[in-house]
Amino acid sequence: MTITESFIRSVRWKGDHLLILDQQLLPHQRVFNPASTIEDVWESINKLQVRGAPAIGIAAAYGLALWALSSKETNVETFLKELKTKRDYLANSRPTAVNLMWALDRLLEVSKDAGSVEEAQTILLQEAKEIQAEDELVCRKIGEYGLSLFKDGDILLTHCNAGGIATARYGTALAPFYLAKEQGIQLSVYADETRPVLQGARLTAWELQQAGVDVTLITDNMSAHVMKTKNIAAVIVGTDRVAANGDVANKIGTFGLALQAKALGIPFYVAAPLSTIDLDTKTGDDIPIEERPHEEVTYIGETRVAPEGINVFNPAFDVTPADYVTAIITEKGIIKGNYGEELQKIKNR
Ligand code: MRU
Repeated sequence: MTITESFIRSVRWKGDHLLILDQQLLPHQRVFNPASTIEDVWESINKLQVRGAPAIGIAAAYGLALWALSSKETNVETFLKELKTKRDYLANSRPTAVNLMWALDRLLEVSKDAGSVEEAQTILLQEAKEIQAEDELVCRKIGEYGLSLFKDGDILLTHCNAGGIATARYGTALAPFYLAKEQGIQLSVYADETRPVLQGARLTAWELQQAGVDVTLITDNMSAHVMKTKNIAAVIVGTDRVAANGDVANKIGTFGLALQAKALGIPFYVAAPLSTIDLDTKTGDDIPIEERPHEEVTYIGETRVAPEGINVFNPAFDVTPADYVTAIITEKGIIKGNYGEELQKIKNR
């Protein structure tokens, strides 16, 4: 793969194993790790080698298929029981992104009536491939709807990485930038570096630079100043889970951006595939928030920046209450408010 390739698929099925782009090593090294077992996939998700809600779901689906293909079980009932245990194992790799559970449950659902282990294996792999193929179309649609909110010359602000490498292609929050490029529309973006693990600096800045998008990197504490002084038209972010009432979980720091945007009268948009909308989770208070290792905070890269023995709190996500969300951009259209009802409607459409 060369540096000029127009997009990079972060999860690739290779017939009997996966290749997973190690997003922890970007932007300096571009390494695809082979994943041949369900344990390899669990590890890749847990260690953020594959990250971003839709990409996590895609990798997990292939992970379950990998287990299925390796199974020596011949009794289909026993196989399906064990499949459920493996589903729970993978679902524990990260707690917040609902796409993980959504993809795994989709695999369980399509295989539940299989008449033989072989049939189940074929169905499971096929479904994993379909989840990936669908996600590309879904993200493109989100890009089209998202772009309809912006005009030539607009300057936006984003957080974390909700881009092509976090999905099958295009991304969610970053999809409008790819679509704008295709259509000759000029959109610029400020990207927050996104402490503690710097998805903005390492991934969004890299990904958009590769695509020729006008991207400017800032540290997280510059966002209010940038919103006030740089004519920011809107903030656009992705999400790991939207609750039934429209509360939105996304990378830690997102809620602060929503507060700043509201104070400054700037629209705050959330790009969310329907697979990220979880009607079974009533409100943001019910969304499990992942806490990650303290070293993510006490170190920047390999360098320790905090004293030994310091207390650390490291939540990976926060919840933005629905009131602060100007609109949710899905593949089936844009919802502006009244989320309790509108999310139900759009999910069932
Ligand atoms: O911890 P991460 O890097 O998996 O967090 C990712 C995000 O917060 C993204 O905004 C979200 O998953 C949407 S990706 C299209």
